[in-house]
Amino acid sequence: MSDIIKLENLTKKFGDLVAVNNVSLNIKEGEIFGLLGPNGAGKTTIINMVLSLLHPTSGRILVNGLDVVKNKEKVKQLIGMMTQETVVEPDLTGAQNLELFCQLYHIAEEKIPAAVRFGLEEADLMKFADVKAGTYSGGMQRRLGLVRAMLQEPKLLLLDEPTTGLDVQNRVSMWQRIKDLNKKGTTLLLTTQYLEEADELCDRLAIIDHGRVIAQGTPSELKRMASEGEILEIITSPEMAQKAANFLRTKFRISPEVKGDRIKAIVQKTEAEKLTKITKGLEQEKIPIFSISIHLPTLDDVFIKLTGATIRDTTQETESAMTRTFMGRHR
Ligand SMILES: Nc1ncnc2c1ncn2[C@@H]1O[C@H](COP(=O)(O)OP(=O)(O)OP(=O)(O)O)[C@@H](O)[C@H]1O
Ligand SMILES: [Mg+2]
Repeated sequence: MSDIIKLENLTKKFGDLVAVNNVSLNIKEGEIFGLLGPNGAGKTTIINMVLSLLHPTSGRILVNGLDVVKNKEKVKQLIGMMTQETVVEPDLTGAQNLELFCQLYHIAEEKIPAAVRFGLEEADLMKFADVKAGTYSGGMQRRLGLVRAMLQEPKLLLLDEPTTGLDVQNRVSMWQRIKDLNKKGTTLLLTTQYLEEADELCDRLAIIDHGRVIAQGTPSELKRMASEGEILEIITSPEMAQKAANFLRTKFRISPEVKGDRIKAIVQKTEAEKLTKITKGLEQEKIPIFSISIHLPTLDDVFIKLTGATIRDTTQETESAMTRTFMGRHR
């Protein structure tokens, strides 16, 4: 399979901040490729450079063999884009929103009604065609955003956090839409902060942190990087976590890591018997167990192994910092 996108030593600086740091990646025609990373990792900056909305500080991007900086217009025709914040024209109806984009894409006038109808059907919005898009729910606006990106039938679709902020039901239905588009032959480059989403959708992915690719591969290759064994995870009370870890060390020769109320260790292949013995032992020591499990490594385990933090912690830290800034401004 040929590479539809090539990022070569891509770097983007904003003043002193290195938002994207020497990233090299190849995205193959026909695949779903994910950029997985927390807030501020550099995902949107990479997407904006592929679209040539931003120019690289150094390095280059080829789309279908064309340098995007030198072939802006040609490359634009190959790419459909759904931005992180779906922007619909609130005072136009769903149908009018799609018409507007057909005109922006220079779709021939006589083809527009059919394209709009097709888009509304694909987005399951036919019933709401003549309702103002500003009144649509978040899920409906995202669906409109997705079909809008598909109007010119691009070979390549960029989706920047397609399901952030959606409820579970809308997220799962968006996943199905994305898989269907891929089955019909569209290559997809998407960004996400959700490990489950990367795992569910992506043929291959790159984990991005502070502008760098810290790992890349198929979801199963990445999970194997976390450990060859399985992960034992126990949640107890924060005061008891250290005691529980010591108990596991002395009685079971397991070397766990403790973080707050959570104890994690790599163990060899699931042994139901071991789990029962550990549970009994902890109970005898009067250590409360709120949950105990042995599972295969997840992408979260990979992220922890590589960065020392969970992706959620990293994301929440930024979010709480943002909340503080926001609250500060209103004080
Ligand atoms: N135009 C800009 N000027 C200055 N700094 C910027 C600009 N755009 C992005 N940044 C910074 O670059 C870094 C990467 O931002 P980017 O938006 O690419 O992250 P992201 O991975 O898309 O995050 P999120 O998940 O929150 O969307 C952040 O530190 C951000 O503050
Ligand atoms: Mg972003």
